[in-house]
Amino acid sequence: MNFGSIFLFLSLILIYIIKDFFYSKLQQMNTVTQVVESFLKVIDSKDDYTEGHCERVSEYAGILCRKAGLKHDQIEKIVNMAKIHDIGKISVPDEILKSSGSLTDKEYAEMKKHSQYGYEILEDLDIFKEDLDIIKHHHERYDGNGYPDGLSGKEIPVGSRILAICDAYDVMSTGRVYKPALTKKEIIAEFEKYSGKQFDPDYAEMMIELIIEEQIGGIMTDEKVKKAN
Ligand SMILES: [Fe+2]
Ligand SMILES: [Fe+2]
Repeated sequence: MNFGSIFLFLSLILIYIIKDFFYSKLQQMNTVTQVVESFLKVIDSKDDYTEGHCERVSEYAGILCRKAGLKHDQIEKIVNMAKIHDIGKISVPDEILKSSGSLTDKEYAEMKKHSQYGYEILEDLDIFKEDLDIIKHHHERYDGNGYPDGLSGKEIPVGSRILAICDAYDVMSTGRVYKPALTKKEIIAEFEKYSGKQFDPDYAEMMIELIIEEQIGGIMTDEKVKKAN
């Protein structure tokens, strides 16, 4: 066998290995997407008041990740985890989850467990692996006063820091039974006030820029609020 034949033979083997690798990667991606979409339906059916919350948060997370210049693979993981970040709420009793009044300390403590519950529900699924830390820590605060582990600053996974901002943005822009939606100006003021406290200051600044440039959906402008009243 001459050198040319050996080279051709090795090239064919290499092509076969690469093809096989990408095919299994593609299959894995499809599985992740299908599982994520199924869980998304479960979350929406459990908590109809916040229907669409996880989907909107994932959309905002994608925009903020791109603004932050994260790599494609990392963005994909964060967006997927954002879609199911509140999956743990399926383990929270309905009377707490759908309560329209303020929660007692005990009820609030139970509600706060949803990020840990989410981690536990999904931890046996190999397809998510270490990405689940994004879900577990999405209620940590930059100053260390969040939950479940009281992580602070860069100890908190990047995806969780991004999610915390997008999660808060959706709550502020859509409102809740106990709290009306805020205007664009008020939302910016909140991000400025809690930058470095609740939120990573770098990502909070990027979010403010996105809001000012109207690159992100769901904004209630002051004019729209005036018209609605
Ligand atoms: Fe949450
Ligand atoms: Fe959420």
